[in-house]
Amino acid sequence: MNTVMESNRVIIFDTTLRDGEQSPGASMNLNEKLRIAQMLQEMGIDVIEAGFPIASNGDFEAVHGIASIVTDSVVCGLARASHRDIERCAEAIKPARRGRIHTFISTSPLHMEHKLQMAPSDVYAAVIDSVRYARGFTDDVEWSAEDGSRTEHDFLCRCVEAAIASGATTINIPDTVGYSLPDEFAALIRMLFNRVPNIDKAILSVHCHNDLGLAVANSLAAVQAGARQVECTINGLGERAGNAALEEVVMAVRTRHDHLPFTIGVKTEAITKASRLVSAVTGFVVQPNKAIVGANAFAHESGIHQDGMLKHAGTYEIMTPESVGLRASKLVLGKHSGRHAFKEKVRELGYDLGDNAIEDVFRRFKDMADKKKDVFEEDIAALIDDAVVRVNDHVRFVSLEVVCGSRHRPPSAMLELEIDGVAKTATVGGDGPVDAIFVAIRTLFPHDAKLQLFQVHAVTAGSDAQAEVTVRLEEDGKTVNGQGADTDTLVAAARAYVNALNKLLVKRGKTVPLALSV
Ligand code: KIV
Ligand code: ZN
Repeated sequence: MNTVMESNRVIIFDTTLRDGEQSPGASMNLNEKLRIAQMLQEMGIDVIEAGFPIASNGDFEAVHGIASIVTDSVVCGLARASHRDIERCAEAIKPARRGRIHTFISTSPLHMEHKLQMAPSDVYAAVIDSVRYARGFTDDVEWSAEDGSRTEHDFLCRCVEAAIASGATTINIPDTVGYSLPDEFAALIRMLFNRVPNIDKAILSVHCHNDLGLAVANSLAAVQAGARQVECTINGLGERAGNAALEEVVMAVRTRHDHLPFTIGVKTEAITKASRLVSAVTGFVVQPNKAIVGANAFAHESGIHQDGMLKHAGTYEIMTPESVGLRASKLVLGKHSGRHAFKEKVRELGYDLGDNAIEDVFRRFKDMADKKKDVFEEDIAALIDDAVVRVNDHVRFVSLEVVCGSRHRPPSAMLELEIDGVAKTATVGGDGPVDAIFVAIRTLFPHDAKLQLFQVHAVTAGSDAQAEVTVRLEEDGKTVNGQGADTDTLVAAARAYVNALNKLLVKRGKTVPLALSV
C-alpha cells in the first residue's frame, strides 16, 4: 500500500455546476451558480468544479465569479487538451485562493478513433503537452482519461504515468458512460496502483456516471480500492442518467463507517438544504423515493414500521433525519409577529438580506400570515428565495385576477405587469387558467419562447400550503428555469413565468446580469 492509500481522507469534488449543468434543461444563471457555490463552500466541499470556461462567456464568468468569492474550497475549471482551453481556464480561475485546472482527453479506442480521430501516439503526446502547459499556470492540475473505464489497460497505465510525470497532482478515471460494474471498476483502480510506478505521487480520483444505476456503488468500490477523490453532484444531477449522487456517497461513508473507514469533510447536516436549492434552481424534481433527499426517505407509512419506530428508532432507521439536516416543519411566526422577530428568524435560517429586501419579504410575510394560519420555516425560505430571484427585474408581476371553474364561462386572466417601470394590463382568455395567464404575459410582452416545463410543488403540508412553481422556457436552444412562490398557485405560476422571462432577457444580453446579494 502506498502513502496516498494510507491516508483515509476522501476528497469530495462537486461537479454540480459543470457536469450537473450539462443535463438538458438544467442551465443556471450567474446569480444561481454563485449561490450554489457559496452553499457548497459552507457545506465543506473540498473542490468545486465551477464550469468549462471555453464553452461560453457565461461559463467563463461563472468560473471567474466563483473563484472571486470562494475562499475555502478549491475552485476548478475544465479544459480540453488544447492551449486555448487551458489559457481560458487559467484566466477564469485566476482570482481563486486555490485554483485548479482540470484537463482531459479521451483514451479509449472507440473515442480516439471516432470522436477525436487521433492516433494513440498523438493522444499520448497531448496528455504530456496539456498537463505541462497547465502546470505553467497553477501547481494544482488534474488530468482525466475520458472513457477511462473502456480504455486498454496498457495504454491507460502509460497515459497516467506520463500525466503524473508531467506534473498532474490528481489523476481522474471516469466511467464516462456508466458501463462499469463495481468489482470490475475496483479492479481497474487496483490495477493502476499495481502497475503505474509513480502512482503514489498523485491522488487517484473517480468520476462515475449512473447509466446502469451503479455510479455510487462504483465510486465506493473505487474508494475501497484506493481512490481518494470522488467526483459527484448534488441530487445526482449530470449528463444523461447523471453522476454519482454526493449525498449518497457521503451518507454511505458516514453510516457504514465499519466497512468504509474514511473521513470526509462535508457537513452532512447541510445536505437537505443543498438538495432543495439545486432542485429549485434547475427545476429537476427529486423523486420521492430517492435515497437520502427524497420526500419519503425518512417517512414511515406502514403500521408495523411506525410501531417499531415508536419502540426503537433503530428498527427501521439507519440514519437520523437530523444527520442530513431534515427537521420537522417548525411553526415559526404568526400574523402578530413583528419586524424584529422576523429579522431574527431570517438570520437563523442562514440568510443575509439587505434592508430593502428584508422590508419586501416582511411585507409579503404579513400578507401571507393573513391568508395562511400557520407559517413554517419552509414558507419563509420560499418567500426569501422568491425575493432573491427578482432583483433587477425588467418585467415585474403586479396583480392577477382569474376566472375559471366548471361552469360555462371561458377561463380568462386579467394581468397587470410593470415593464421597465410602466404598468400594463391585459385581459385574455385561454384553454385553462394557466394558459390564460401565460397568454396574457405574451400579450403584454411579446416573445417566441416555448414553454418546456410547468411544475407545481407544495412547500409544506395542508391545503393552505404555499405553491412553488417552476417554469422552463426555451428560445433558440437556450433554456431558463423560473421560480415563483405564493399561497395562490396561479399567482405563483405567473411569478414563475415572469421570472423565467427575465432570465431569458439576461441570456439574450438585453439586460445586465442580476447582482448576488439583495
Ligand atoms: O464523464 C466524463 O468523462 C467527464 C470528464 C470530462 C471528466 O465528465
Ligand atoms: Zn462526466
